[in-house]
Amino acid sequence: MTKPYRVAIVGCGRIAATHASTYRRHPDFEIVASADINADTLGSFQKSFDVPAGFADYAKMLVETQPDIVSICTFVGLHWPIFKASVEVGVRGIICEKPMLNTPAELAQARALVSRSGVKVVSGHMRRYGAAHLRARELFLGGAIGDPIFIAGTLEGGEMAEMGAHWIDLIRFFNGDARVEWVMAQTNMHDKRRWDHAVEDNALLYMQFENGLKAVYEGGQTVLNGDLYSLLQGSAGSIQIVQEKALIVSDKAGVRREDFGNDPPDAWKAYGLEMPDPPWNYKWDILLREFVAWLEGGEEPGAGFTNAATATEIYLAAYGSAIRREKVELPLRGADFEWDEWPGEILARQAKDGRRS
Ligand SMILES: NC(=O)c1ccc[n+]([C@@H]2O[C@H](COP(=O)([O-])OP(=O)(O)OC[C@H]3O[C@@H](n4cnc5c(N)ncnc54)[C@H](O)[C@@H]3O)[C@@H](O)[C@H]2O)c1
Repeated sequence: MTKPYRVAIVGCGRIAATHASTYRRHPDFEIVASADINADTLGSFQKSFDVPAGFADYAKMLVETQPDIVSICTFVGLHWPIFKASVEVGVRGIICEKPMLNTPAELAQARALVSRSGVKVVSGHMRRYGAAHLRARELFLGGAIGDPIFIAGTLEGGEMAEMGAHWIDLIRFFNGDARVEWVMAQTNMHDKRRWDHAVEDNALLYMQFENGLKAVYEGGQTVLNGDLYSLLQGSAGSIQIVQEKALIVSDKAGVRREDFGNDPPDAWKAYGLEMPDPPWNYKWDILLREFVAWLEGGEEPGAGFTNAATATEIYLAAYGSAIRREKVELPLRGADFEWDEWPGEILARQAKDGRRS
């Protein structure tokens, strides 16, 4: 594969603009084509990001342009067919948006395909590269507040898997990407739809990790201490992460605040780049640089397929728990493989039927 890597983007909406602007800041990538079923969206995307070729049909785009890298920026329902079609034309790398996949069966097939083809896949879990998150993890795992005991992550307006996937991934990140043994979850669903599927008004997920740590993710209208909040509890203190930008650390020395604002971590500064616009986008620059290093023989990054597949398995297990009203052990097995649609749809039907009876 010669540089610059030839990139094709499927789905030219909101997050595709972030992918495109990050690619354009990186000299190793050239966007050669994009696809969207909406002609106006496609046209204005091509104009904004100077994309030479546009297609209504992503399959045609893949065959005709033979890209090295594909960004999958549609809703979750379409990720798997685009993922498969991309591997079939021989792409070397994929950036697939979260939530990554619809069903346990898709996840099993994706794992098999990645292992068979060697394609390198990263997800949109860029929050791992936030300066406040990196610092919190360093303190938590370094023993600054004693032994790790508990993590809570909350998100106003969020739900189990669309925004929840970010927090599931982050909670694992804070806990050293340890294995989750089992989950228990509940959803509160009415008629809300977003991202082309049923979504929860509230979602609650409890995770038991193999290393003993327990964690709760709460998404919805009224959440613990406001939006974008995480609490990391240790045996000798706590770390609160506020709006992804500041830490409030309580330890034996007292309470102190560390502010990060939109500042990138030192690892990012080492690239010698200008601050992107909008400034929080620096996380995407780190993700892309780690992706390039992996494509060129380096280590799989934190946002790589292994962790992305694990986060996917956790939100699928959470939905399975809410559907079956019981604790779900990981890895997924047996009855977890019975559904063949976005599990929120099953929960929405259950909720409707329950309210009728
Ligand atoms: N990583 C992040 O922080 C982040 C942020 C926002 C969204 N996302 C994720 O990205 C995904 C897309 O979200 P969005 O907000 O960009 O949505 P969006 O509605 O702005 O964009 C989706 C685009 O896909 C297009 N599309 C639909 N069907 C298509 C098809 N068959 N072929 C080609 N294009 C098609 C739509 O026309 C639309 O333009 C979601 O899964 C969402 O969760 C991730």
